[in-house]
Amino acid sequence: MKTRFTTGLVALAAGSALALSGCGSDRGAAEGGESAPAGFEDGAKIGVALPQKTSENWVLAESLFNDGLTEAGYEPVVQFANGGVSEQQNQIQAMVQQGVEVLVVGAIDGTQLSTQLEAAKEQGIPVIAYDRLLENTEAVDVYEAFDNFHVGELQGQALLEGLADRKGEGPYNIELVAGSPDDANSKPFFEGAMSVLQPKIDDGTVVVKSGQTSQQQAATQGWEPENAQNRMDTILSGSYKDDDLHGVLSPNDTLARAALTSAKQAGKDVPVITGQDSEVESVKSIMDGVQYSTIYKDTRELVEATIGAVDSYKAGEEPEVTDTESYDNGVKVVPANLLEPVIVTQDNAAEVYEGDPTLEGLTE
Ligand code: BGC
Repeated sequence: MKTRFTTGLVALAAGSALALSGCGSDRGAAEGGESAPAGFEDGAKIGVALPQKTSENWVLAESLFNDGLTEAGYEPVVQFANGGVSEQQNQIQAMVQQGVEVLVVGAIDGTQLSTQLEAAKEQGIPVIAYDRLLENTEAVDVYEAFDNFHVGELQGQALLEGLADRKGEGPYNIELVAGSPDDANSKPFFEGAMSVLQPKIDDGTVVVKSGQTSQQQAATQGWEPENAQNRMDTILSGSYKDDDLHGVLSPNDTLARAALTSAKQAGKDVPVITGQDSEVESVKSIMDGVQYSTIYKDTRELVEATIGAVDSYKAGEEPEVTDTESYDNGVKVVPANLLEPVIVTQDNAAEVYEGDPTLEGLTE
């Protein structure tokens, strides 16, 4: 039987023992008679549980994980859970039973997987939270993501810059859209943006006519465009009969396009709307001067970093992290490896997307 990590802590302890002794002879010295942290062998199965296809980045991640893991000598098992939380629970359980050596999880709802992740932990399988944090569980070893709070800050700043640019002086009427409440990312996205916008709401530069300024009020269940569109329809007919809407804070591109559709149907022009993910339709819209901004989170980089973490576990080491403070999941602070998101507008799109096989051609 192959040996695995028991917990990150044991791995860390044994890692330093190895470093101190300078040889591998400590590998047998596991705590409590458990198997020693010796990494695992070539050809190992790696489980990758992805959520629903709510944005293009997830679809891209599927092929990047399949290709990248295969190239690195692993056997990938990559699955979407389009049917929802219980499907994802079953998939993770099956991955553990199949003997994956590492679990990579992009959760639909990061609070609903504790039982399955605990089972992985009992088998000594390291768990990597991918893009979305896994919450209320000890059974998560590392978080690989872009800096989510900074995504929100960049969106808030872009909204204000766009308003100054396209509308001149305030006050500006804006509305807020937030992501799905079951996705742990929705909070840092919204709070990052509000850290920039709240002072402007407080001093009257920015007015949210609907009065819906909490994350809960602005939430979009399941990241479903229909939900954002319906909410925006209601807001437009209720609060903008006689007023213009100048800007919308949207957490991602899919919802930005939904809000634009709603405005169009109401005969309204929204000069500034933010987004995230650099989806093809939205990048085109930015180049056409309609959507104002998006965020570039290069999925190739995130998948590469995640496969790098898998390689570390394979070598019997802990993955590198950049942050050991920010991501408290309710029971522990999860060490995180955070990549830098980039804000994109018409002005810098060509520069940012240079070399991206899908997006480069859209900026000419
Ligand atoms: C991701 C975003 C994405 C959203 C909806 C979030 O967790 O970080 O990039 O737009 O999910 O798929």
